[in-house]
Amino acid sequence: MTTVAIIGGSGLTNLKNLRITRREVIRTPYGEPSAPMIFGQLGGQEAVFLPRHGPGHTIPPHEVNYRANIWAIKQTGVSKVIAVNAVGGISPDFQVAGTLVIPDQIIDFTYGRAHTYFGSEHKKVTHVDFTHPYCEELRQTIIHASGRAEIRVMGRGTYGVTQGPRFESLAEIRRMERDGADIVGMTGMPEAGLARELELCYASIALVVNPAAGKTTETISMKEIETNLETGMGSVRSLLEQVIPLIAHG
Ligand code: HPA
Repeated sequence: MTTVAIIGGSGLTNLKNLRITRREVIRTPYGEPSAPMIFGQLGGQEAVFLPRHGPGHTIPPHEVNYRANIWAIKQTGVSKVIAVNAVGGISPDFQVAGTLVIPDQIIDFTYGRAHTYFGSEHKKVTHVDFTHPYCEELRQTIIHASGRAEIRVMGRGTYGVTQGPRFESLAEIRRMERDGADIVGMTGMPEAGLARELELCYASIALVVNPAAGKTTETISMKEIETNLETGMGSVRSLLEQVIPLIAHG
């Protein structure tokens, strides 16, 4: 039985260490997911993988069909979801590229995204608790696996999610910092909220790929980010390989 899905972000459109067994196109009432679901084995355990930005990384953060993705994942029968997100670092301890963060809080600064299943014909309206937006049990499993793999992670952090696709202004980052955001990215929401609505246990591995706007004298360059993604995703893959067996046996 496949129990866990992985949503790959920028730099993780494929999971090199996933032994693929089959692909499946899943239709949803909300339209097409970003890609066919990829089923396979990771660390000797069943897992299903979905690249958030599509197989060729062509879907920008504000155009991802988050509802279709999470709905399709639910249809596979998994109960747990690990999302991978590339982020910028705001707080001092989170600024170094390559830092892995297992966030425990979210602030949603996005707008205009289809962000709920409720109020549509498919789900009657309800209000879900989101006090702790991530699944604490899964967060702890990831943190535990990182210790075993000797991969350093920040075991907490507040993820501020912006609309993008542009990066932030200096004043926007200053405001986010005052609000308590440690990291900034464009894909954490509405994904986490939708996962909660469908009662999936959802956690994130966020990889810092640049210091946020104004946190260095440099301008933010895609070239620098791509280099940091390349190196950092190596650690993410290793961490996933450690985590999946712990989930399957847990
Ligand atoms: N801001 C927003 N999203 C991001 C960043 C950033 O600095 N880096 C990677 N994703």
